[in-house]
Amino acid sequence: MAERVYLDHAATTPVDEQVLEAMWRVYTDTWGNPSSIYLEGQQARRALDAARKLCADLLGASPKEIVFTSGGTESDNAAIRGAALAQRDLGRGSHLVTTQIEHHAVLHTVEQLEREGFRATYLPVDAEGVIDLAALEAAVGPETTVVSVMTANNEVGTIQPVAEAARVAKAKNPQVVVHTDAVQAAGALDVRPGALGVDLLSVAAHKLYGPKGVGLLYVKNRTPWQPLLLGGSQEKERRAGTENLAGVVGLATALKLACDEREERNARVRALRDRLLFGMPERVPDTVITGPTDPARRLPNSFSCCFRNVEGESVLLALDLAGIAASSGSACTTGALEPSHVLTAMGVEPDLAHASLRLTVGHENTDAEIDRVLETLPEIVSRLRALAGSA
Ligand SMILES: Cc1ncc(COP(=O)(O)O)c(C=O)c1O
Repeated sequence: MAERVYLDHAATTPVDEQVLEAMWRVYTDTWGNPSSIYLEGQQARRALDAARKLCADLLGASPKEIVFTSGGTESDNAAIRGAALAQRDLGRGSHLVTTQIEHHAVLHTVEQLEREGFRATYLPVDAEGVIDLAALEAAVGPETTVVSVMTANNEVGTIQPVAEAARVAKAKNPQVVVHTDAVQAAGALDVRPGALGVDLLSVAAHKLYGPKGVGLLYVKNRTPWQPLLLGGSQEKERRAGTENLAGVVGLATALKLACDEREERNARVRALRDRLLFGMPERVPDTVITGPTDPARRLPNSFSCCFRNVEGESVLLALDLAGIAASSGSACTTGALEPSHVLTAMGVEPDLAHASLRLTVGHENTDAEIDRVLETLPEIVSRLRALAGSA
């Protein structure tokens, strides 16, 4: 059987060898509880402090501003709930602003807050998935407390003007807390919160060759924010629970590698991705690229499209049989009958949105693998179209 081709790095990435080694050392040598006072605990505490310092340095932050979490979902939940509730307690209002194309970790959190009495505005996006800064400016008012705009989208790779959004929101209301979900962008883009002008920023390790189930939330000093998880006094009482030390060390190691190797990795994945972006419409008739057609305006590893007159799910199954791992969009919407909320918000008609394909490249992919995709897909799509036509 031919080797598998993995092209779903936006869903998750394989764990880097160096990350694995660093984690292995924690599991074998530094397995103590960082809260214990004896030697094993002290050793674990030192490893935790070092990982926190490394993450902080890489993000241009102070170690006190890093809260380790169980991943992107928790970071997003904790960021938005934490800031919304704290701001309300300060009497600053209860209006939240986000975008229609956020990950469900953000959208469902905001929807839950609406059920709890908050008011929310979901900003529309243009056909390429970019928010309108004028609409943001119009939405932010004296009652607005939290603005959450993702750094880059997980389905179509669109990079948002987060720094400008933060400036616009804070110019309109200086007390607004700005959050960005940088889960897809971290590693590929410079997501230092200082440069983006945000107060809260979410990262997940498994999108950048780190382990699953661990992430971080950057919380800028003096940001009104309250913890989601209550219990022990870990993370300076901002996130209770014994720390996932091996995971945290894995996250720090993965983030360091991603930052150190950003240029080379991006150049590599961009070249492979561009072959898909420009090659697919040439090879498969009626391919509609979704997200920005200008490669510079999307994540360097992100390709997404819809094929007219074909069912996306069937394409994925046929690709899987051909040894290629791909996605119709976010892993969370796979299997759902609803067309993607991201594509719908971008104005893609429902029939077309059902035929979506996302290929996200990793730095371990090769030209030969991209060749295989470009050779395999035209045949799959034309076979499925022929079947649909004859049904
Ligand atoms: C943009 C974005 N935010 C949040 C998440 C959730 O992250 P996790 O799966 O680590 O909880 C994802 C995962 O796909 C994502 O792509």
